[in-house]
Amino acid sequence: MSNAINDPQGLPDVHALEKLANAYFSALPGNYNAADVPSAELLPHSNNQIQENSTFTHSPSAIYQGNAIDLSDPQTSLPDSNGLGLGHVPKSTAGSGGPSGNFNTAKQANNPFNISSLLPFEADQPYEKELQKALASVSSYSPSSQLPFNPSAILSENSYYFSSGIQFVTSADTQNSGRYGNGVVTGKSQPSFNVNLIRNDFPLLSEQVNGKPLIWLDNAATTQKPRQVIDRLNYFYAHENSNIHRAAHELAARSTDAYEGARQKVQRFINARSPNEIVFVRGTTEAINLVANSWGDEYLQQGDEIILTHLEHHANIVPWQLLAKKKGLKIRVIPVDDDGQLLLDEYAKLLNPRTKLVSFTLVSNALGTITPAKQIVAMAHAAGAKVLADGAQSVSHIRTDVQALDADWFVFSGHKVFGPTGIGILYGKEDLLNSTQPYQGGGNMIEDVTFEHTQFHQAPARFEAGTGNIADAVGLGAAIDYVQKIGIDNIYQYEHYLLDYASHKLAQIPGLRPIGTAPDKTSVLSFVLDGFTTAEVGEALSREGIAVRSGHHCAQPILRRFGLEATVRPSLAFYNTCAEVDTLVAVVGGLKSAKQIYFH
Ligand code: ALA
Repeated sequence: MSNAINDPQGLPDVHALEKLANAYFSALPGNYNAADVPSAELLPHSNNQIQENSTFTHSPSAIYQGNAIDLSDPQTSLPDSNGLGLGHVPKSTAGSGGPSGNFNTAKQANNPFNISSLLPFEADQPYEKELQKALASVSSYSPSSQLPFNPSAILSENSYYFSSGIQFVTSADTQNSGRYGNGVVTGKSQPSFNVNLIRNDFPLLSEQVNGKPLIWLDNAATTQKPRQVIDRLNYFYAHENSNIHRAAHELAARSTDAYEGARQKVQRFINARSPNEIVFVRGTTEAINLVANSWGDEYLQQGDEIILTHLEHHANIVPWQLLAKKKGLKIRVIPVDDDGQLLLDEYAKLLNPRTKLVSFTLVSNALGTITPAKQIVAMAHAAGAKVLADGAQSVSHIRTDVQALDADWFVFSGHKVFGPTGIGILYGKEDLLNSTQPYQGGGNMIEDVTFEHTQFHQAPARFEAGTGNIADAVGLGAAIDYVQKIGIDNIYQYEHYLLDYASHKLAQIPGLRPIGTAPDKTSVLSFVLDGFTTAEVGEALSREGIAVRSGHHCAQPILRRFGLEATVRPSLAFYNTCAEVDTLVAVVGGLKSAKQIYFH
């Protein structure tokens, strides 16, 4: 990117960028134009189903070519492209067989470094020394090895979060890098999709609030929904609604196909090995409670230890506290530095033979810190512990690959990734799910019941008692289609640019203290402003049509680490623009002079 598109302060000029992006898109061979795209010809339940973009790449031209996916067409999400015939029910959900009971085997398999002989509970030596040895062997992997995460070079994690060939802003592309440093961002990043076209898909983004155009910067709390998702829900209730799995009639087949098709979309989206590893739940909170109350209750014993991080949302603290109280467990916490980065050296010291679980977030909802996820998982496994990864704040911003990550469970909520509320995902390794007692009992999760004994289904039905949230699962499938058609790496690239832009501009406001200054962050711009309560800032922004969250963000421990009870938290998604950021900055920056009017 040349200096020609930078303004005198060195910030990228939005209009020049827009011009560049438009020129870029018009030069594409399959130049996308909503009006040119033929409407979907195929009905969802015809035998000829619309093909997914199976050769999807991260190149915008591949996304927008004529025969590719029409982002503006709700029909593209309607048919299931999984090849299931009507009424076909995957084996696990049709149900047969019981738990495989191979928990110990799975535990062994989770040590990818074959260093169990070094661990204290398997060798007759003081554990800390041996654990250090084990961890040293973990850290000695070269950046090109299977361990891209390390505490000192977090940017190298991009080999996990990105496919090769993607250009994005790195520290080398910025002068005096650091989002809140004095450096001027001169990154090469450039929007690789047309944000204005995409915004047309989100009806709520055209809403007026307090007489002003809505600026939705509360994406960490929930995301807005594209009409492809809204239409998919309507279509389900108009044409497919039925209970699933239990009847031979046509509508039961349609709804079952739609529901199981959504499961397969989730499987592909997070790269799980099998749809049997995907359990539909209410959301991240329910997923964590499920693991605590099924696996935790079954396998943890008095004196066992659980490691959390200081960054956790209450949903990844309270369920473990409840379990700890019930079973006599100990909770230990990985501390953070003043930028909000986890201290992995301290983490290494917390691991010991009593550690049975490490449960951590991939992205902090309060600070935006991206944690060194793969290293956290590898270190836990090296110590013989299971790992739960909370993807609630990562899933809409950075690529998820549960096989590469290797966590035992991965959880997220549909509403944070442009899907409906009330639906979420628990991913678990299949053997582990099948060797874990059910969370709730009832219909759908059983294979056979007598008054003396019940035989449970294998996963995922084992954990889906009763009638679930069928329509919203289908809606989540449509949201995933939508995200995949844009491309999660394109989303990250654009958001990364936007975050740099916003961080730099906010940092220029006198009296503004950014909270969470880790070099590797996504989406979140927490701050406090001298002379104003966070509620005052939030209300002032709302008067201008800008929605942000102000408060404790359900993450009180991490805010208290910074001596605070609350922050103002704008949070970005791919449909936000530099112009919206400019309005945010203007309103926050103008608050001091407006204080007389607003607050006296
Ligand atoms: N967990 C959501 C947030 O961070 C609600 O705002």
